[in-house]
Amino acid sequence: MWIHRLSALVLLCAAPAAAQDAPATAGACSPGNVVCVELGLDGDGRPRYAVTRAGRQVLAPSRLGMILADAPKLDRNLAIADVRRSTFDQTWEQPWGERREIRNHYNELTVTLREKSGPGRDFDVVFRLYDDGLGFRYVFRRQPALERLEIVEELTEFHLAEDAAAWWIPAFEWNRAEYLYHATPLREVGDAQTPITLRMDDGMHASIHEAALVDYAGMNLTRVEGRRLKAALTPGTSARAKVSVATPFRTPWRTLQLGMRAGDLVESPLILNLNEPNRLGDVSWVKPMKYVGVWWEMHMDLKSWASGPKHGATNENVRRHIDFAARHGFGGVLVEGWNLGWDGDWFGNGEAFSFTRSYPDFDLEALSAYARERGVVLIGHHETSGHAAHYESQMDAAFDLYRRVGVPAVKTGYVADAGQAKVRDADGNLVFAWHEGQDMVNHHLRVVEAAARRRIAVNPHEPVKDTGLRRTYPNWLTREGARGMEYSAWGQPGNPPGHEPTLVFTRLLAGPMDYTPGIFGMETRAPGGVETTWAKQLALYVVIYSPLQMAADLLDNYERNPGPFQFIKDVPVDWEATRVLNGEVGEYVTIARRERGGDDWYLGAVTDAQPRTLEVALDFLEPGRRYTAQVYRDGDRADYRGNREDIVIEAREVTSVDTLTLRLAPGGGQAIRFVAQ
Ligand code: NOJ
Ligand code: CA
Repeated sequence: MWIHRLSALVLLCAAPAAAQDAPATAGACSPGNVVCVELGLDGDGRPRYAVTRAGRQVLAPSRLGMILADAPKLDRNLAIADVRRSTFDQTWEQPWGERREIRNHYNELTVTLREKSGPGRDFDVVFRLYDDGLGFRYVFRRQPALERLEIVEELTEFHLAEDAAAWWIPAFEWNRAEYLYHATPLREVGDAQTPITLRMDDGMHASIHEAALVDYAGMNLTRVEGRRLKAALTPGTSARAKVSVATPFRTPWRTLQLGMRAGDLVESPLILNLNEPNRLGDVSWVKPMKYVGVWWEMHMDLKSWASGPKHGATNENVRRHIDFAARHGFGGVLVEGWNLGWDGDWFGNGEAFSFTRSYPDFDLEALSAYARERGVVLIGHHETSGHAAHYESQMDAAFDLYRRVGVPAVKTGYVADAGQAKVRDADGNLVFAWHEGQDMVNHHLRVVEAAARRRIAVNPHEPVKDTGLRRTYPNWLTREGARGMEYSAWGQPGNPPGHEPTLVFTRLLAGPMDYTPGIFGMETRAPGGVETTWAKQLALYVVIYSPLQMAADLLDNYERNPGPFQFIKDVPVDWEATRVLNGEVGEYVTIARRERGGDDWYLGAVTDAQPRTLEVALDFLEPGRRYTAQVYRDGDRADYRGNREDIVIEAREVTSVDTLTLRLAPGGGQAIRFVAQ
């Protein structure tokens, strides 16, 4: 089969080929010769690509192409018309992130495919080969027979060459991304969202996802048969096509990240590298921060978003939160339920929300000033109930207001069943939309751009999935897009202990998540309460990366427990370096990160329901330097089913040649601050 001749072909296909002697294949490898791709055509002129890692086949020949509305599909009768190659190697700096510097080093292969007869349309498939995986996209030039693209479905496949274990959440289900992960054999995957994580028998790990999702439909995966996954685009608002665009056009990148350790996937910057550089210029106004909020009280049903005797967003309650934030060094205070529209069935009445008018017991101007005087900011909140059209009609005024009073970040929300968001179609009619269809993808970017014009950062919940656009729009700080901590408040069930060590190797591969950790009050409305130990709650601040990180619990729970609370106060949200020290998907993970612009390191380790003993070499510390390790570990009786508060806080001196033994309780964890001496 042609894939086996890959290395020879890489050498043969260097020059552009004339149509008459068109090569049958074209291939390229990553800079370190680790990951290689080859594109070939079968006897019908159908393009297929295949991928190897270290000489071993990862993707068997997998289909490429598009089904179009009102035009012949772009699928067969194609020939390679041109092959181009280039190399790129540049190191860029993140304005904020899990590491400061990222090397973007790839070999690019562009293959032009042209129809041999008929309309003679052509398009490029552009591959970027990295040592940690690859991305590829379709590029369409403007041409008479292709002035528009009305895409019914993408034919892109990922045909895994080997059996694998798979971690995935279902696509096209009502609760958007808020599902517990399935762990199944690859051969039992149904319709899945991306990223999907795979582990082959020998420990090779893979993640399939996408990068730079702009003006297009989100990609899901459908298992066609056996190990063959195929793109399934999220529907749009037109029955004719899922994507409607004018040429020239470039699709998002389809991505495959590869590594031998689960942690390699977490350390891989491939998704960010495939995005365009910062388009906003000076973004020093985008500030990562920790925040508290008028929030968990509502989820515990102690307060309400709605007006009335339980209203949470009162001047008095907000001032109490501002005072607390100032006293303990938190940057922001989130306030939900401040604006008109929460009374009644807010899930279904998005059009009732005003994004500029407050309830009478909440004075935005006065509270912003009160916060400012204390070195704190308010974090805004715009729940839309998925009514994107209504939100857009007020968005500019809403951001102008926030700009004027000095609110530098807003949490948005799209609580509506999947398929029940609301947008305006091309004729201006109000129609239902999927959260990741083309219309909503475009909506989110309009929000981010409108916010950026006012120097406001954005944190959407029930969002479109993350595809690395934070590189291009650094005010897109974080998002939800998974089962967050709120499920431990009221979920039936809550989040089980395996949830967080699964998220790290699945959802978090897409980008930061506003998980909202830090709960000390373990009895909740969820049947098992919060199914972690206290030490694990602390470890989540290191393990789950987010530049906006909430201390989500009731303030009293922090006031009463200054010992463990100290770690939440100390832990940074912006990092110089990140290392994944160990981990298995869904079981456990240990991550170490160095503070941005500082010398201290922080470590977080979490486990599922299994207790574990992990040996961790401290070779990430600066050699020769002494550190005081401030350890927050599970006590002997700690267990997520009881004694969750059993935590030991102790200090010891360490250096980079030491090894620590971390003992994690069932559902437990450990958090450490290494203070440089
Ligand atoms: C769901 C969000 O995830 C949650 O954080 C928020 O409090 C509610 N929607 C209300 O907006
Ligand atoms: Ca949510």
